[in-house]
Amino acid sequence: MIGAQWGDEGKGKITDLLSRSADVVVRSQGGVNAGHTVVVAGQTFKLHLIPSGILYPNTECIIGSGTVIDPQVLIEEIEQLKALGVTVDNLYISQTAHITMPYHRKIDQASEESRGEYKIGTTGRGIGPTYADKSERTGIRVLDLMNPEHLHKQLGWTINYKNVILEKLYNLPALDSEKVIEDYLKYAEFLRPYVVDSSLKIYKAVQEKKNILFEGAQGTLLDLDHGTYPYVTSSNPIAGGACVGAGVGPTTIDRVIGVAKAYTTRVGEGPFPTELNDSIGKQLGDLGAEFGTTTGRRRRCGWFDAVIGRYAVRINGLDCLAITKLDVLDELEEIKVCVAYEIDGETCYHFPTNASQFADCKPVYKTLPGWQKPTTSCRSLTDLPKEALNYLKFMAELMEVPIAIVSVGPSRDQTIIVEDPIHGPKRALLDADGIRVGET
Ligand code: IMP
Repeated sequence: MIGAQWGDEGKGKITDLLSRSADVVVRSQGGVNAGHTVVVAGQTFKLHLIPSGILYPNTECIIGSGTVIDPQVLIEEIEQLKALGVTVDNLYISQTAHITMPYHRKIDQASEESRGEYKIGTTGRGIGPTYADKSERTGIRVLDLMNPEHLHKQLGWTINYKNVILEKLYNLPALDSEKVIEDYLKYAEFLRPYVVDSSLKIYKAVQEKKNILFEGAQGTLLDLDHGTYPYVTSSNPIAGGACVGAGVGPTTIDRVIGVAKAYTTRVGEGPFPTELNDSIGKQLGDLGAEFGTTTGRRRRCGWFDAVIGRYAVRINGLDCLAITKLDVLDELEEIKVCVAYEIDGETCYHFPTNASQFADCKPVYKTLPGWQKPTTSCRSLTDLPKEALNYLKFMAELMEVPIAIVSVGPSRDQTIIVEDPIHGPKRALLDADGIRVGET
């Protein structure tokens, strides 16, 4: 399951839904930049790294090799869950995941400040610098954390090196290396019981024919290679990233489910063709409670963009879509959908990978009538107002991918299951009554 837009598509709720039939849930990329809130039986859980499958005691949850782990935040999350009576005996952490250190956070924040008008609008959680060290081969992995003698040596050298950057480049105070090492050795002891060879564990689950859900964080347009570079995160949130980050072969994955909001949001800097800087944008933000779980920042809002939708279908090989927050559009008189871009006077149906073309493109809209009726208590497609159904059909047809799930509110039951998202036939469309009309 992956995000088909710029993150914050409402993946938390869909993961929760899919986790019910999963034996194993794996996070394969990203770190504590992600965040979702799950409300179960009146209790609120705020999770950044631990898959929300943890709320099902028989589901094994794995934080995979491609993630970056801030141990302090992870320990807080584990303690929060325990305090609320949730068992974490089913949590596993990859020994080859990389560790976010205090200097990563500091460098992330300081470099953002120094970028001025070129800033990315990161979450400031040290994600980019942790992945940069991984690529530079100076990273600290969970394995290193588990070996005190080795950690002492490796961190002694690394902190001295990072202190030069902090002091000389950013004019910040140096870190006390002994204190950092002492803190991280404590974190190591806390986390030791959870550490495993995650690729091997997943492989065994595959052999035992268990259902495995690979839970993406962030979204397609934030992908380091295929997103709106440089305004992206530093990992690969696309479907292919799940193989690398979890340590499984592509043949392991049977089905790819994309999650998209019925409109679009983006947090942080970077071009956003369908952004609405008007009262409708504000209305979407207010009704959709569009504030980041991790940073509390207000999300930018705009119309649904089918060009990026089609791009997400292509880049991820999507089999079906889960459309979330349809109810946020309930009051609108009319709704626009971006069907193409105008670039240098030409109509373009494909996402332009040239960043300056994307920054300058003009959305070409098709306007559809709104339904101006509440959808929050609809539980099947036939309960939906005709205009809402037409809106969904239009999206499915534009993206040439079936819609398997429609979410009409935050709670678990405010969900329309159109077809089995896990086993449903591929590439189906919706007919006039919202029922599938077979394979395309
Ligand atoms: P970073 O991942 O903190 O380096 O931030 C890079 C970009 O990705 C910024 O625009 C962030 O706002 C965005 N970003 C990172 N994580 C998320 C997420 O979970 N949801 C939405 N945007 C995110």
